[in-house]
Amino acid sequence: MSEVLTKSTARNIFYGGSLFFFVIFVGLTAHSRHYILTKSTDQAHLTDSVVRGKRVWERNACFDCHTIYGEGARFAPEVGDVFKRWGGEKDPAGAHQMIKDWMKAQPSGAQGRRQMPQFNLNDTELDDLADFLAWASRTNTQGWPPRPAKVN
Ligand code: HEC
Repeated sequence: MSEVLTKSTARNIFYGGSLFFFVIFVGLTAHSRHYILTKSTDQAHLTDSVVRGKRVWERNACFDCHTIYGEGARFAPEVGDVFKRWGGEKDPAGAHQMIKDWMKAQPSGAQGRRQMPQFNLNDTELDDLADFLAWASRTNTQGWPPRPAKVN
Protein backbone atom coordinates (compact mmCIF):
# COMPACT_ATOMS: atom_id res chain seq x y z
CA MET A 1 0.00 0.00 0.00
CA SER A 2 1.47 3.35 -0.94
CA GLU A 3 1.51 6.27 1.48
CA VAL A 4 -0.27 9.40 0.36
CA LEU A 5 1.06 12.83 1.28
CA THR A 6 -2.08 14.55 2.41
CA LYS A 7 -2.53 18.28 2.25
CA SER A 8 -2.33 18.63 6.01
CA THR A 9 0.89 16.58 6.21
CA ALA A 10 2.42 18.74 3.49
CA ARG A 11 1.40 21.85 5.40
CA ASN A 12 2.89 20.52 8.62
CA ILE A 13 6.18 19.73 6.90
CA PHE A 14 6.23 23.23 5.45
CA TYR A 15 5.49 25.00 8.75
CA GLY A 16 7.64 22.67 10.82
CA GLY A 17 10.57 23.03 8.40
CA SER A 18 10.23 26.81 8.26
CA LEU A 19 10.14 27.05 12.04
CA PHE A 20 13.11 24.70 12.40
CA PHE A 21 15.31 26.77 10.09
CA PHE A 22 14.04 30.06 11.52
CA VAL A 23 15.14 28.96 14.99
CA ILE A 24 18.57 28.00 13.61
CA PHE A 25 18.80 31.37 11.85
CA VAL A 26 17.97 33.30 15.04
CA GLY A 27 20.47 31.20 17.00
CA LEU A 28 23.28 31.83 14.51
CA THR A 29 22.47 35.55 14.43
CA ALA A 30 22.62 35.75 18.23
CA HIS A 31 25.87 33.80 18.22
CA SER A 32 27.45 36.12 15.61
CA ARG A 33 26.46 39.18 17.61
CA HIS A 34 27.85 37.70 20.80
CA TYR A 35 31.08 36.71 19.03
CA ILE A 36 31.56 40.18 17.52
CA LEU A 37 30.93 41.96 20.83
CA THR A 38 33.03 39.70 23.03
CA LYS A 39 35.72 38.15 20.87
CA SER A 40 36.48 39.71 17.50
CA THR A 41 36.32 43.48 18.15
CA ASP A 42 38.01 45.67 20.72
CA GLN A 43 34.85 47.02 22.37
CA ALA A 44 36.78 48.37 25.36
CA HIS A 45 38.54 50.93 23.16
CA LEU A 46 35.65 51.89 20.89
CA THR A 47 36.09 55.58 21.68
CA ASP A 48 34.28 58.61 20.29
CA SER A 49 37.22 59.42 18.07
CA VAL A 50 37.14 55.90 16.57
CA VAL A 51 33.47 56.43 15.76
CA ARG A 52 34.19 59.88 14.28
CA GLY A 53 37.06 58.36 12.28
CA LYS A 54 34.72 55.80 10.78
CA ARG A 55 32.47 58.66 9.69
CA VAL A 56 35.47 60.42 8.07
CA TRP A 57 36.11 57.14 6.24
CA GLU A 58 32.48 56.97 5.09
CA ARG A 59 32.03 60.67 4.22
CA ASN A 60 35.06 60.60 1.95
CA ALA A 61 34.12 57.27 0.37
CA CYS A 62 37.58 55.78 0.88
CA PHE A 63 36.00 52.42 -0.02
CA ASP A 64 35.56 53.65 -3.59
CA CYS A 65 39.21 52.59 -3.99
CA HIS A 66 40.12 50.66 -0.82
CA THR A 67 38.86 47.58 0.94
CA ILE A 68 38.55 47.36 4.71
CA TYR A 69 38.11 43.81 6.06
CA GLY A 70 37.89 42.88 2.36
CA GLU A 71 34.86 45.14 1.75
CA GLY A 72 35.13 47.84 -0.89
CA ALA A 73 36.85 48.43 -4.21
CA ARG A 74 40.11 46.78 -5.19
CA PHE A 75 41.90 49.70 -6.78
CA ALA A 76 44.06 50.39 -3.72
CA PRO A 77 45.46 48.35 -0.80
CA GLU A 78 43.42 46.78 2.01
CA VAL A 79 43.63 49.20 4.93
CA GLY A 80 42.03 47.17 7.74
CA ASP A 81 45.54 46.21 8.84
CA VAL A 82 47.53 49.21 7.60
CA PHE A 83 48.14 50.45 11.16
CA LYS A 84 49.66 47.10 12.10
CA ARG A 85 51.68 46.87 8.86
CA TRP A 86 53.12 50.32 9.60
CA GLY A 87 54.43 49.18 12.97
CA GLY A 88 51.50 50.27 15.17
CA GLU A 89 51.88 47.35 17.57
CA LYS A 90 55.38 48.40 18.60
CA ASP A 91 55.05 52.12 18.07
CA PRO A 92 51.41 53.31 18.10
CA ALA A 93 52.29 57.02 18.10
CA GLY A 94 54.65 56.52 15.15
CA ALA A 95 52.08 54.65 13.05
CA HIS A 96 49.44 57.24 13.95
CA GLN A 97 51.73 60.00 12.68
CA MET A 98 52.62 58.01 9.54
CA ILE A 99 48.94 57.78 8.60
CA LYS A 100 48.49 61.52 9.08
CA ASP A 101 51.63 62.30 7.07
CA TRP A 102 50.52 59.91 4.33
CA MET A 103 47.13 61.60 4.03
CA LYS A 104 48.78 65.03 3.82
CA ALA A 105 51.33 63.94 1.20
CA GLN A 106 48.85 62.66 -1.41
CA PRO A 107 48.84 62.58 -4.36
CA SER A 108 52.46 61.46 -4.43
CA GLY A 109 52.94 62.19 -8.13
CA ALA A 110 55.24 59.15 -8.33
CA GLN A 111 55.55 57.89 -11.90
CA GLY A 112 53.91 54.58 -12.69
CA ARG A 113 51.99 54.39 -9.39
CA ARG A 114 48.28 54.71 -8.91
CA GLN A 115 47.47 57.97 -7.24
CA MET A 116 45.37 58.78 -4.23
CA PRO A 117 43.59 62.15 -4.12
CA GLN A 118 44.20 64.87 -1.54
CA PHE A 119 41.25 65.04 0.86
CA ASN A 120 42.30 68.20 2.73
CA LEU A 121 41.25 66.77 6.10
CA ASN A 122 41.86 68.91 9.16
CA ASP A 123 43.99 67.80 12.09
CA THR A 124 41.07 66.47 14.16
CA GLU A 125 39.74 64.48 11.21
CA LEU A 126 43.20 63.02 10.60
CA ASP A 127 43.56 62.04 14.29
CA ASP A 128 40.10 60.45 14.26
CA LEU A 129 40.87 58.61 11.03
CA ALA A 130 44.15 57.28 12.42
CA ASP A 131 42.35 56.18 15.62
CA PHE A 132 39.74 54.38 13.50
CA LEU A 133 42.40 52.58 11.45
CA ALA A 134 44.26 51.67 14.66
CA TRP A 135 41.06 50.26 16.15
CA ALA A 136 40.25 48.39 12.92
CA SER A 137 43.68 46.76 12.95
CA ARG A 138 42.89 45.18 16.33
CA THR A 139 39.81 43.36 14.99
CA ASN A 140 40.27 39.63 14.80
CA THR A 141 39.20 38.92 11.23
CA GLN A 142 40.51 35.34 11.39
CA GLY A 143 42.96 36.11 8.60
CA TRP A 144 40.40 37.77 6.33
CA PRO A 145 40.95 39.01 3.66
CA PRO A 146 43.46 36.38 2.55
CA ARG A 147 46.91 37.60 1.55
CA PRO A 148 48.24 38.58 -0.86
CA ALA A 149 45.40 41.09 -1.30
CA LYS A 150 47.69 44.08 -1.64
CA VAL A 151 47.44 46.03 -4.88
CA ASN A 152 50.75 47.38 -6.07
C1 HEC B 1 40.71 57.43 -5.99
C2 HEC B 1 41.13 56.27 -5.23
C3 HEC B 1 41.43 56.42 -3.75
C4 HEC B 1 40.61 56.91 -2.76
C5 HEC B 1 39.19 57.46 -2.90
C6 HEC B 1 41.34 56.78 -1.52
N1 HEC B 1 42.56 56.21 -1.75
FE1 HEC B 1 43.93 55.70 -0.33
N2 HEC B 1 45.15 54.98 -1.78
C7 HEC B 1 44.89 54.98 -3.13
C8 HEC B 1 46.01 54.41 -3.84
C9 HEC B 1 46.11 54.22 -5.34
C10 HEC B 1 46.98 54.06 -2.87
C11 HEC B 1 48.36 53.48 -3.11
C12 HEC B 1 49.28 54.61 -3.50
C13 HEC B 1 50.73 54.25 -3.49
O1 HEC B 1 51.09 53.20 -2.99
O2 HEC B 1 51.51 55.09 -3.94
C14 HEC B 1 46.41 54.43 -1.58
C15 HEC B 1 47.03 54.22 -0.37
C16 HEC B 1 46.49 54.49 0.88
C17 HEC B 1 47.09 54.19 2.13
C18 HEC B 1 48.39 53.44 2.33
C19 HEC B 1 48.03 51.95 2.26
C20 HEC B 1 49.19 51.01 2.23
O3 HEC B 1 48.99 49.87 2.66
O4 HEC B 1 50.27 51.37 1.75
C21 HEC B 1 46.25 54.64 3.12
C22 HEC B 1 46.44 54.55 4.63
C23 HEC B 1 45.12 55.24 2.46
N3 HEC B 1 45.28 55.13 1.09
C24 HEC B 1 44.04 55.80 3.11
C25 HEC B 1 42.93 56.32 2.46
C26 HEC B 1 41.83 56.98 3.16
C27 HEC B 1 41.71 57.12 4.66
C28 HEC B 1 40.96 57.39 2.20
C29 HEC B 1 39.68 58.18 2.39
C30 HEC B 1 39.79 59.42 3.11
C31 HEC B 1 41.49 56.98 0.92
N4 HEC B 1 42.69 56.36 1.12
C32 HEC B 1 40.86 57.18 -0.30
C33 HEC B 1 43.73 55.40 -3.74
C34 HEC B 1 42.66 55.98 -3.10
